Amino acid sequence: MPLFALGRSGDHAARVTTHYEQLARQYDRRWSGYLQGTLTRLLKCLALSGTERVLDLGCGTGEFERLVMQQFGSVSMVGLDTTPAMAAVARQKLRGAPNVQILVARAEALPFRAEEFDVVVSASMVHHVRDARSLLVEGCRVLRRGGQLAILDWCRDFWHCGLLHYWWRASDPTYGRMYRLRELRQRLGEVGIRVQQADRFLVPPGYGLMCVNGIRAS
Ligand SMILES: C[S@@+](CC[C@H](N)C(=O)[O-])C[C@H]1O[C@@H](n2cnc3c(N)ncnc32)[C@H](O)[C@@H]1O
Repeated sequence: MPLFALGRSGDHAARVTTHYEQLARQYDRRWSGYLQGTLTRLLKCLALSGTERVLDLGCGTGEFERLVMQQFGSVSMVGLDTTPAMAAVARQKLRGAPNVQILVARAEALPFRAEEFDVVVSASMVHHVRDARSLLVEGCRVLRRGGQLAILDWCRDFWHCGLLHYWWRASDPTYGRMYRLRELRQRLGEVGIRVQQADRFLVPPGYGLMCVNGIRAS
């Protein structure tokens, strides 16, 4: 059995949840610079008007919801996360925001009807999933035609992220997969998203990321 397989046996989804259950209380403090750098970038790429209904897959502690509410108090948001402790931090943080709802669910099985949202986003979550297809299919199903879907995540095109990919695969049981930009574009195309904007960027001190934004074409 390859060494990396030892740490990857068992229920992958349960390991992700256990990891974030333990991290939830310290998450915002530990990742403050990263959150600022990634989530402002995601918000900028969306160009919201303020009237949308937005779904955030893997919303974590609700930092993206907080940021959106600061600038667009009239947007209606649903943040969804598989880890109850992360969702609890988000609910506590957003208790004064009546148009934000935080749910515990998996992004691969969304509890919504088709075409309920104008915008679907996900930040720093896709690398925890082994095959992004099922969550992209679901994200696309609940997005209206012409709506926007934006994915921000680690990008394997950066040489050091390529090394991290192999390191995490061998040592981190919560790791799923890190995509190259062209691979993510292709996955999005396969589920009916016409990519309009795709950027790679670094967040200090050197996190290598990408943000891909497109429109549901069919
Ligand atoms: C690195 S955190 C990112 C949180 C937030 N989006 C942010 O940018 O701070 C990853 C989050 O994704 C959640 N997650 C992982 N896999 C998930 C899945 N399949 N469905 C829903 N949430 C998931 C984890 O519980 C965790 O809260």
